[in-house]
Amino acid sequence: MNNSAKEQFNYIKQIIDKNLDKYIDVIYPESIYESMRYSLLAGGKRLRPVIAYEVATKFGANPDDIIPSACAIEMLHCQSLIHDDLPCMDNDDYRRGKLTNHKVYGEATATLAGDALLSYAPKIIIDKTPKSVSSDKVVSILKEFFIAAGVDGIISGQIVDLDSEKKKISKETLSFIYEYKTAKLFKLSVRTGAIIAGVNSEILDKITLFAQYYGHAFQIFDDILDVTSTLEELGKTPGKDAKVEKSTYVSMYGLDEAKKQALLLCSKACDILHNININSDILLGVVSDISEGIKKCS
Ligand code: IPE
Ligand code: IPE
Ligand code: MG
Ligand code: MG
Ligand code: MG
Repeated sequence: MNNSAKEQFNYIKQIIDKNLDKYIDVIYPESIYESMRYSLLAGGKRLRPVIAYEVATKFGANPDDIIPSACAIEMLHCQSLIHDDLPCMDNDDYRRGKLTNHKVYGEATATLAGDALLSYAPKIIIDKTPKSVSSDKVVSILKEFFIAAGVDGIISGQIVDLDSEKKKISKETLSFIYEYKTAKLFKLSVRTGAIIAGVNSEILDKITLFAQYYGHAFQIFDDILDVTSTLEELGKTPGKDAKVEKSTYVSMYGLDEAKKQALLLCSKACDILHNININSDILLGVVSDISEGIKKCS
């Protein structure tokens, strides 16, 4: 990402961080709020809310209209990470450079903190979206949220991901996992931004396809980093996928072919951005962070 895009990205990220902090106070029963805040405010790139904000505002929406939904998407993402790290799932000790939620608060509290974030997020969309945004739009956004969060989204991706450990799976099944566990959340980001801005259905379809290409590339890059990076760089333990024999692009196609496929997806994602004339340094930048990252790692 070039420096100007980085500055714009960080400006939006600050707005997201400030509002996430504001939306959740520590009240009684303190332990659950503390556990929610621990993971939510633990850092993280804030890619999904920044993408939602950028799409909304580039298509002409008022920033205040997208902030609650963008923050809700980050809450959903954090929930998926807390649960993904649990011993019954990926069993990870580190996330965002800190101990995972269950390592600090215990498994019961971590499970409940995930549930709490998941149910708090749509409440934020309903309570905090300015009343000037039509209720039709709010209902559409909520529907998108529940699709991504539920069995039409992350949950089905995660179950097939876990069921596919130590197994030889088909390319179609691998693609299903990436679509559902990862791309659906990026689709939620762009679609939420686009719906708030009131774009037409052709643009909505195209920006959704952008998120599909980007989401698949993003997950392939995550799998590549798992074999090429360090705990310091990642903030999470590397080498985990091979250890539990996860089915990934790297295990199925090998590192070089996985890189090639991710680069191809990045170029398709960029083509769409040019095609819809969105003129966003941030969106081009998040794609180039993956393609440049892939070229650098070995
Ligand atoms: C991690 O996502 C989960 C995956 C889909 C691979 P990020 O790499 O965006 O995690 P944070 O939010 O920056 O911690
Ligand atoms: C990420 O898959 C999917 C979700 C968290 C929904 P991973 O299990 O590969 O993510 P990391 O590597 O733990 O961040
Ligand atoms: Mg996982
Ligand atoms: Mg994991
Ligand atoms: Mg991973």
